[in-house]
Amino acid sequence: MVHVLREKHAFSSVNTVGRVRPQVDPDDPNAPLSPLLLMSDDPEHARRRAIVNRAFTPARIAAWEPRIREVAAAHVDRLRDLPDVDLVRDLAALLPVRVISLVLGVPQEDADRFRVWSEEITSAVGNHDADQARLAHVQAAFTGYLSDLLDRWDGTADAGVLSSIAAAERAGELTRLQCVSFVAELLIAGNITTTHHLASSMALLAGHDGLFARLQADPALVPAFVEESLRLESPIQGFFRLATRDAEVGGVPVPAGARVFVLYASANRDPRAWPDAPDLRLDRAGLAAHVAFGRGAHACIGASLARLESRVVLDVLLDRLASVELTVPAAELPYGPSFVNHGPTRLPVRLGFRGLPQQ
Ligand code: HEM
Repeated sequence: MVHVLREKHAFSSVNTVGRVRPQVDPDDPNAPLSPLLLMSDDPEHARRRAIVNRAFTPARIAAWEPRIREVAAAHVDRLRDLPDVDLVRDLAALLPVRVISLVLGVPQEDADRFRVWSEEITSAVGNHDADQARLAHVQAAFTGYLSDLLDRWDGTADAGVLSSIAAAERAGELTRLQCVSFVAELLIAGNITTTHHLASSMALLAGHDGLFARLQADPALVPAFVEESLRLESPIQGFFRLATRDAEVGGVPVPAGARVFVLYASANRDPRAWPDAPDLRLDRAGLAAHVAFGRGAHACIGASLARLESRVVLDVLLDRLASVELTVPAAELPYGPSFVNHGPTRLPVRLGFRGLPQQ
């Protein structure tokens, strides 16, 4: 599987959904947004990735930790006042877009507007029933808002990823439409994935006997838990490639032109790589060697951010809570219909806060 991800010339990321995209007029404000990284090959892919890479290095992302901790703590503290808590609706679905807007450099007073656009754009992805008129309206508002931010960029300030994108536009490397597409891609790619990962890890935390107490007693185990939950639950189950020439994968012939669905989730439970693969074990050797973030040229650019966010949320929950219990059996948690995105869509829980009687 890793072979397919590494062989970027034999297995293309372009046109992997089997649709040839129409030529887009870069000056048309209603032109469809399309991902700049996920569905491109070199040389465009490498050139575009270099524009934003710098903002996503582990060191740059680590610098966001104090702000992310503040935002996470404020969200967790709000849970105290709710009559009933669904950790997806009330936490996992809210946090990622707040964090991405921070890292992008969107003014925080606009974060709620940004969240609404992000939800609308994200929910239209892969949804044949999406209301196209509504989507065009949302896209126009989103494009207008971002255009305004890009116009106001002062040419020097390092206000997050948007600065890098604005600089590339001024240098003639990106059109305005590509700038907006870039931001939309980062929002979409980083939103539902992180929501699902937060939800899956909290479901494990609440549903796995003794895990909460073990992590609370030894918070240094949290990073290992983040990796194991990524491996076990693979928020992106798989993604497509297109064979550009005849090839063979694991002894199976793959003819040129075939679409290949690369299943990260399956590799992450391969018993040859992971003894007792279905079991959550925090003492595995090489815990981070899973492929939940892919591999090779298209490996997730947001991996450091996603890991940091999960770790911080878990730290805050372990610090604030005395207990967390599912109010439905773990086997009855609902999941969405997608074969790509995976995570619980509801997580009803009973929370006990430290220093307060249980809810
Ligand atoms: C737990 C959360 C996340 C998971 C599981 C995840 C998973 C993945 C995977 C598997 C890929 C590789 C796709 C391929 O092989 O073609 C990918 C690519 C990507 N991810 Fe993530 N991701 C997560 C969070 C994020 C975040 C927070 C961001 C941005 C802020 C992000 C942005 C992207 C982008 C832009 C790509 C395309 C990279 C490229 O094609 O060069 N992701 N992600």
